[in-house]
Order: sequence, then structure tokens, then C-alpha cells
Amino acid sequence: MLFYITNIKQLNGILPQDTSFLKGEEMNTITHIKDAFLCLKDDLIYSFGTMSEIPTIKKGDVVIDASNKMVFPSWCDSHTHLVFAAPRQEEFVDRINGLSYEEIALKGGGILNSAKKLAETSEDKLFNDALIRLKEIEQLGTGAVEIKSGYGLSLEAEIKMLKVIQRLKSASNLLIKTTFLGAHAIPEKFKTDRTTYINLIIEEMLPLIKKNNLADFIDVFCETNYFTPQETTQILEAGAKIGLKPKIHVNQFTSIGGIQTGLKNNALSVDHLEVMTDKDILDIAKSKTMATLLPSCSFFLSIPYAPAKKLINKNLPIALASDYNPGSTPSGNMNFVISLACIKMRLTPEQAINAGTINGAYAMELSDKVGSITVGKKANLFITKPINSIAMLPYSFGNNQIETVILNGKIS
Ligand code: NIG
Ligand code: FE
Repeated sequence: MLFYITNIKQLNGILPQDTSFLKGEEMNTITHIKDAFLCLKDDLIYSFGTMSEIPTIKKGDVVIDASNKMVFPSWCDSHTHLVFAAPRQEEFVDRINGLSYEEIALKGGGILNSAKKLAETSEDKLFNDALIRLKEIEQLGTGAVEIKSGYGLSLEAEIKMLKVIQRLKSASNLLIKTTFLGAHAIPEKFKTDRTTYINLIIEEMLPLIKKNNLADFIDVFCETNYFTPQETTQILEAGAKIGLKPKIHVNQFTSIGGIQTGLKNNALSVDHLEVMTDKDILDIAKSKTMATLLPSCSFFLSIPYAPAKKLINKNLPIALASDYNPGSTPSGNMNFVISLACIKMRLTPEQAINAGTINGAYAMELSDKVGSITVGKKANLFITKPINSIAMLPYSFGNNQIETVILNGKIS
């Protein structure tokens, strides 16, 4: 049995199998076919072309008519913290009343607040809540997602988070990658003895993660008041020994050498980049590391937006991700991320959509499986409502232009 989507006004995001990401000017185009069909078999993309080339549809095949509608590959959200115990709306109000994100963190709010709540929350509750969040982002067009630990900050709670993510991998329709972020903040009880916490990460957490195969990547929040570049290197080197590639938080508030630390340790991606020097940009340009930008975080915290246009003009690839978390970005809506990238970073719709699909897939080592319309890739895609141009997606910010979500070849 085959699954046909017919009369598609425009089938978008067609790429050859060997494209792992798009950079610089390559990001200016969304390869597409007008008046197209797309055929799925089981969970994979089987064939596509113009309606004039459509094969004879057999009895028993399923057909959806997509007249006036467009098809896109699903969003690939390569940076989230969507397993958490509770929202932090009190801190949101504190910020409205004048406190900064850093000031809230320094008085015990922020990541430490989330860690305190997570320690008191059962694995089952964390799992059920996160599964609901995954279902929500699935309906908003996300087809692959990275999820970090980092609200545990103790051996027991970090492992609890990673086990939750492992369970989500089997329970969800989404393709999920796991990142270990034990070095998200120094816990209160190690404030005056940070070395002991770093040793705990290296000597106790990492061996257990390796033994139970609990992570794909490793992350560190390399930032003033969090982890120094030297500490970051120490942790990333220990992660590399058990096969975990780095995807790290850098340059969110200050440029302290986090990018260079990531590059030196062969990071798959360096994420945030709201504050960048010209040297930072030149250094990334020499690497295969993806620059991952998180505009919803800038929006929510009222901090600068990463210099997306400058990076693309230097012939770099960039990825866009949500950063879904209870503190700096309580939203996993990739449609809004794409809108913000156009409205605030002045990316064209084509650049933003490429950044949120194939380049996001690369930042999770998934570009052989998702991120484009390619024969043999996973049938993770969405059909829009009737629209006239791809610009409708970012233009109609806050509205949902997605009508039908297909994951693993089935309507979700
Ligand atoms: O990516 N910056 C570090 N981590 C998260 C926020 C964590 C939190 O506030 O809970 C981020 O913005
Ligand atoms: Fe983050």
C-alpha cells in the first residue's frame, strides 16, 4: 500500500541525499516542484514529481488531495530542554518588574530553581508532562528534536532525566536525540567547591551514562558565572572518551572563548551566539561546526539577537532551534522561531526555513534521515492550509498555517 499526497501547490525542501547542510548563498533557495505529488511507503519517502508524472494509483492506496496547499519537511529542533518539572512564571514577573535573568539566577532562581523542583518530581510525572509537550510541538510541525538533561545537577536526578528522555524516544512519534548537560550550573552545595562537582560529572555521571547508553551528545553552559572555557574543555574531553560529541551553550551573555573551546573540541554545534566578536565569526567559518541560533530566547529575555545575517554573509551555515525551557524560552513553537528569524534577524523565509530543517538536522547528526524531501528519508512532513507563498509561514506570526502533520508516513 502506498500513501499519495496529490495536487500539491508546491512541494518544498527537495534536496539530494548527500546534502548534509546548506551554507551562505545556498541557503537563499528552497528547491521545490509546483503542482506536485509525493508518495510515501511505510515510514519513508518513496517518490515525488509533478502531477503529470504521477504513477497509476492502485486500489488500496491512500490518497490525500493537497490542492492549494504546500508541503514542507518537518522542522528539526536541535536544541531544547523540554523535560522539566514546572514552569517559572514568577521569574517572568520578576523580570517584568526589572530584575535581569542573571540577577534572578544569582539569587537562587533560574536553573537552580528548576533543579530543586525536578529533584522533588517523580520520573513518571516528568515523563508524562514531557510527552504532552512533545505532542504539542508535533502538531506545530516539529519532526525531530534534541532534548537535554541539565535540571538534575546530581547523579540521581541527571540519570532520572536521561531515563525520561530514553522512555520518550520509544513513546513518541518524533525522532529524538539526547544530550547530557550535567554542567548546566554549579549546584548550591558545591558553590565553594566547584572542582568536586566537575569531578562528580566526570567520574560518576559519565561512566553511568556510558554503561546504560543514555546520551548521544554532551553539553556545557560555558558562560560567566557558570563554567569557564578550561572547565568546559575538561568536561568535553571526558565526554569524548565515551563517544559523546559536544553541542554547547556559548556566547549567550558574554564572549569568553566559548566558541573557540567548542571548535577545539570538535563541537557538532555551538548554540546561542547572541554576543559575538568578529574573530568568533571568522573562527567558526573555518570549521564544520553548526552555528545554532535561538531567536525565541532573545525575544523572551529581551537580549540581543544573534548576528544571523552576518554569519550567512560570511558563507556560514546557521541552524535555528527553539531552546524550549521553563526559564528563557517557554515555547517550542518552531513556526514562531522562523517568524522571529525573519522579523528580527532579517533572514529571508528561504534562509529561515533551511535553517530550521536541513541545518537543524545536521546539528543532531540526522541529516541522512530527516530535514528535506528526499527519497529514502523519513516521511516526516507537514501539509499547510491553503497558502499562496512560502512567506506566509513567517509572515502570519502567531498563527498556525499547518493543517496536517505526517510522521513516519502516518497522519499524526
Ligand atoms: O539555553 N542558558 C542556559 N540554559 C537555558 C536556560 C535555562 C533556564 O533558564 O532554565 C538556555 O537559555
Ligand atoms: Fe539552551
